[in-house]
Amino acid sequence: MPKIKNPNVLIGFNSVDDAGVYRISDELALVQTVDFFPPVVDDPYDFGAIAAANSLSDIYAMGGKPLSALNLLGFPPESVPLWAVDEILKGCADKVGEADVPIIGGHTLKTKEPLYGMAVTGIIHPEKIISNKNAKVGDSLILTKPLGIGIITTAIKKDLVEQNVVEEAVSIMTFLNKSASEAMLEVGSNAATDITGYGLLGHLYELVRASKRGAKICLSKVRVIDFAWELAKQKVVPGGTLANLKFLQNKVDWDKEITQEAKLILSDAQTSGGLLISVSKEKEKKLLDTLASKGVPESMVIGEIVEDETCRIQVKT
Ligand code: CO
Ligand code: CO
Repeated sequence: MPKIKNPNVLIGFNSVDDAGVYRISDELALVQTVDFFPPVVDDPYDFGAIAAANSLSDIYAMGGKPLSALNLLGFPPESVPLWAVDEILKGCADKVGEADVPIIGGHTLKTKEPLYGMAVTGIIHPEKIISNKNAKVGDSLILTKPLGIGIITTAIKKDLVEQNVVEEAVSIMTFLNKSASEAMLEVGSNAATDITGYGLLGHLYELVRASKRGAKICLSKVRVIDFAWELAKQKVVPGGTLANLKFLQNKVDWDKEITQEAKLILSDAQTSGGLLISVSKEKEKKLLDTLASKGVPESMVIGEIVEDETCRIQVKT
């Protein structure tokens, strides 16, 4: 991509962040993002809701307020019946309704496999952007959803998962990052990102690299969907997770007790994962309390930001 010279581009391609930000005035900037992907679950309604929650998440991760969305839909009419397409759109409509974001247009085309997602436009005050580059030494790192989604959805495709685990995974993926975003804005946070395809450690690496710091993570504090441990042991993991772990190999210092399963889980490619928030130690408790009062009670402190210009991540038991 060409280098951006426009001074109104506050966040663009050069900083690997969640969404682009374009300044309209001193008080107002647009936040824009787009995301679409093939089904991660069998139920078309759930898929629509997951895709919608996932697309909105990048706006929430910047501390923005989503205003409107456009649908992006592709499907093969010979193998995907119209009722299923209806269900995808219904799942999405209910989810954006919950977020109070109207869908104001979109585009549909024939594709070889079903694809669905949204382009979302939001607003933010140019001085209140919570990017990934301002993490401070001593900050606590708070994660708002458990890990293991990529592993579970891979197992769903192989029919290895009981219905109750499917439901747990769907409820995690469809949970909006809206309240978590409002909590981090209310308390004041230094940096944030959402956990998606690069996994916890991949997105944390982007954050520490942008912030020119390092991080220390404590495995025992990271909440994981129970069944994902068993699946990781059986090597039921998405290709993206293996690629993430490979990418991270010379960026992470693992304690020698950290097992291969744990490495896979910490690198697991998530769909619609939680927010990872870097907040000053003094505000840690207030943020946890605010998250709990806004209905995000299972948020956890998983580690901290440390001084390290080489941007390494240490993983302890
Ligand atoms: Co993101
Ligand atoms: Co994205």
